[in-house]
Amino acid sequence: MPSNVGTSGQAQPATSLAPPTEQRPPQRERQGSFGGSPRVKHLKPFNTANIKILLLENVNETAVKALRDQGYQVETHAKALSEDVLIEKIRDIHCIGIRSKTKLTKKILDAAEKLGVIGCFCIGTNQVDLEYASQKGIAVFNSPFSNSRSVAELVIAEIVLLSRQLGDRNIEMHQGIWSKVSANCYEIRGKTLGIVGYGHIGSQLSVLAESMGMRVRFHDVVPLMPLGTSKQVGSLHELLEISDFVSLHVPETEETKNMIGEHELNKMKQGSYLINASRGTVVQIPALAKALRSGHLGGAAVDVFPKEPAANGKFFESELIGCPNTLLTPHIGGSTEEAQSMIGIEVSQALIKFINNGTSIGAVNFPEVDLRAIRDEENSIRLCYTHANVPGVLRQITDILSEHNVDKQFSDSKGKIAYLMADISDVTPEQIQDIYHRVSNTPTNIVTRVLY
Ligand SMILES: NC(=O)c1ccc[n+]([C@@H]2O[C@H](COP(=O)([O-])OP(=O)(O)OC[C@H]3O[C@@H](n4cnc5c(N)ncnc54)[C@H](O)[C@@H]3O)[C@@H](O)[C@H]2O)c1
Repeated sequence: MPSNVGTSGQAQPATSLAPPTEQRPPQRERQGSFGGSPRVKHLKPFNTANIKILLLENVNETAVKALRDQGYQVETHAKALSEDVLIEKIRDIHCIGIRSKTKLTKKILDAAEKLGVIGCFCIGTNQVDLEYASQKGIAVFNSPFSNSRSVAELVIAEIVLLSRQLGDRNIEMHQGIWSKVSANCYEIRGKTLGIVGYGHIGSQLSVLAESMGMRVRFHDVVPLMPLGTSKQVGSLHELLEISDFVSLHVPETEETKNMIGEHELNKMKQGSYLINASRGTVVQIPALAKALRSGHLGGAAVDVFPKEPAANGKFFESELIGCPNTLLTPHIGGSTEEAQSMIGIEVSQALIKFINNGTSIGAVNFPEVDLRAIRDEENSIRLCYTHANVPGVLRQITDILSEHNVDKQFSDSKGKIAYLMADISDVTPEQIQDIYHRVSNTPTNIVTRVLY
């Protein structure tokens, strides 16, 4: 994080931590509040404008604005940078925002002397060496659920398209073939939609499908409150047997790998439809192609594949090409302008909360820690201490803080690292310097920050 609030393993000059009173952010005027209690303090590191943020790969404008509004220095680039340029640029920055093309490897992270937090403005985080980032005390945030609505809407469209064989009619028309048929074309009203995985996307889909007159049943590994008049069923097989449409919305896990194969497809009703906009490994493609070509299934819509091309172009191969009434899309379920904008808002808010408040809720590689708001009082601080997860650390911290008024404190660990937040009141500038100096010099220190 910014040099004046402490960086990894390096004690900063004490003067930068406890500036004279006139340098402190102005205290907000207190206004009436519940029970006469003081207002909450808007924490921030000193000299917010010194915080340098590098945003690559055309990160959405919503994020650029939110970060600039905080007073941070924000540099934006439309594309990913070459490794050499990135190594040079990353040296001096406190926060980087990327999408999927920028690889933050050990080599790049080693060049990042001040980096405290990474924002992945996308769903996946495979492009970051997460373990190495956490060892260096760098928190990584992403946005896994901003595009749930976009996926649910695509599935609704696909249900109608499959039911009316619209994919095939469209291909025929582009070939100059007029084929006006109504056989095996249906309304979706009154049909049963079986949702596998009733999470963010599955539950959105449930609401939309009911509003179009469908009956919704779902299967999930955990018992969940059904929305509207939907109902949870006892097993996957039961769901497959009763559904006219089956839509998959499970995560990629050992249990969901190859979840839908020949056996499961045979359980599905004759003429029913399968939709997969979850993960490519969930469905066995050869078995699906066989069920489509034999006419057992009436159609399928597939947005995700076991092997997906790394770049746009003529690279797609699949046994599903040419199957009847089969809609194939290039993993675009969540690809909308609205989702990009939501991702920008969600990730930038997580970055701001981490930089200003120390909150790590939602981090993918970091213990998730938060504290309720700090009271708006002069001489109160928040200590944020990322440290090696080894026995005896809390005793050292308790020793250091024992002479002070610790209002609240919370710590959690994840793998080899742990993160502690403590709010301390009635501390003088000299005491703040002393706390910072002693905590950041503990042998287990990874990063120590003090927020005001
Ligand atoms: N096509 C796209 O562009 C796109 C976009 C976003 C998300 N996705 C994918 O969609 C899927 C669902 O996303 P989400 O945000 O709804 O996830 P989520 O975590 O909110 O929900 C997943 C649900 O699946 C359930 N589940 C887990 N294992 C199960 C099993 N073996 N059987 C039945 N239910 C099981 C969970 O309990 C949970 O309720 C994920 O695989 C995600 O990667 C795809």
